[in-house]
Amino acid sequence: MRPHDIKTKIFLDSGDPDETRQVLDLLGFLDGQTTNPSLIAKKLTGKTKKFTRDELLAGYKHIVQEVASLLPQGSVSIEVYADHQTSADEMARQAREMFAWIPNGHIKFPTTSAGLAAAEMFIKEGGRVNMTLVFSQEQAAAVYAATLGAKKGDVFISPFIGRLDDRGEDGMSLIKNIIEMYKTGDSHVEVLVASVRSLDHFTQSLGLGADIITSPLKILKEWADSKFSKESAGGGNKLQTIPYQEISLEKNWHNYIITHELTTVGVQKFADDWNKLL
Ligand code: G3P
Repeated sequence: MRPHDIKTKIFLDSGDPDETRQVLDLLGFLDGQTTNPSLIAKKLTGKTKKFTRDELLAGYKHIVQEVASLLPQGSVSIEVYADHQTSADEMARQAREMFAWIPNGHIKFPTTSAGLAAAEMFIKEGGRVNMTLVFSQEQAAAVYAATLGAKKGDVFISPFIGRLDDRGEDGMSLIKNIIEMYKTGDSHVEVLVASVRSLDHFTQSLGLGADIITSPLKILKEWADSKFSKESAGGGNKLQTIPYQEISLEKNWHNYIITHELTTVGVQKFADDWNKLL
């Protein structure tokens, strides 16, 4: 049973169904799970020397189906393969295939022009999406605009806070800014805090009222050890606050600044981790 006073949904960030089982034992509930190419590659590394593309995809499908069977009421995020050459049509094609793997999937697309175009198409077809590798408020506005018309629950946005912290920017302030900006909209996009690196990230996200947090097993263990604390230790980090920007949600999504250096690097890293297994 989830603690009755926790409104935020708690997801596990992992490509390993054994960890799903551990969290269910530990917490007694789990609202969903997010995967990505790096996490799946980590799980499949060492199973066999190299995979064909079909074998690798079959390995991903197998993992996702096992997780979905453990979380029948939850959501399981599955990420398309994308490098900087992958077209929107190709991402949408993969999305249709992956979405059919399980009844409770959300498809992750990178928050790039091609990824947003694919998500726009996929939402119109009745799909569910999780827009990943988000590092700016402008990207969050673009996600909102590209998915207008979707119903609540069908669109997640994943800002990666740890990777902003890594370069001295306060990722948590981006979460705060996106939540603030979305108050001016129709609430169809749910904010899913990703790249969580500490219990403090976790508790601060609870405090901000994020819709969803996805967290590695290690942090969920720390949260359980803290007796499901909602208090942030707070204070004292030397990170640069990201200032709030007044951004209208009313524009066409093509008119926002979509590029971000960390998104570019992140797309490449996911593709590289995947390709290493081929
Ligand atoms: O959910 C996305 C997350 O897995 C990224 O985390 O630690 O690779 O920045 P990290």
